[in-house]
Amino acid sequence: MILVLFGAPGVGKGTQAAILAEKLGVAHLSTGDAFRAAIKNQTEVGMVAKEYVDSGKLVPDDVVARIVEEAMGGEQFATGCILDGFPRTRAQADALDGLLSAKGLSISKVINLEVDDETIIGRLLQRGRADDQEDIIRNRLNVYNAETAPLLEYYTGKGLLTSVNGIGEVDEVNQRVLAILS
Ligand code: AP5
Ligand code: MG
Repeated sequence: MILVLFGAPGVGKGTQAAILAEKLGVAHLSTGDAFRAAIKNQTEVGMVAKEYVDSGKLVPDDVVARIVEEAMGGEQFATGCILDGFPRTRAQADALDGLLSAKGLSISKVINLEVDDETIIGRLLQRGRADDQEDIIRNRLNVYNAETAPLLEYYTGKGLLTSVNGIGEVDEVNQRVLAILS
């Protein structure tokens, strides 16, 4: 199963992806986590990604492709995975299709978690990651609306998209997602 968890910053992609990966026994790939690890380890990709991640801009597609190809080459990705925060542009969506079709795989579903902006800002300010400052959060939301949200229409057109209310207890949201998968 290839599941894409889609949605604005702070909707709960990472939280739900971790629970689903555990319950379904598949790998979890968060491109945000991958970039933060690369930055911490000062790899070549990390050095390029840093200024984008720090300011809440999208890392350029070619750099994203490098980190995703590397991660998805791993043994645990042979049969399926949960993608969290990828793809975020049409170029990334096309790159993903290419990577998957080379393995004889395709996207099973795209789950779009929906949470209003003020709830998102409240959640992220409480979490307090380095990029969870109000001005950077608002920039991430703007970037999402301008560059990533157009993929909603793309995946709707492919019949892959289902939207889920992301407000409520974590378990409650998880049950809504599982209901779609069953
Ligand atoms: P990334 O790490 O993906 O950040 P993001 O998209 O901004 O999303 P978050 O991780 O902040 O939120 P989330 O939806 O995972 O929510 P979470 O579960 O943590 O990306 C960071 C940066 O990396 C980007 O800005 C960009 O620079 C770069 N990047 C990454 N991928 C890229 C790509 N594909 N292309 C280009 N650049 C890329 O939840 C948030 C908080 O809410 C947590 O504290 C959580 O505990 C809490 N919470 C979760 N669920 C609930 C609930 N139901 N009720 C109450 N609180 C909840
Ligand atoms: Mg996340």
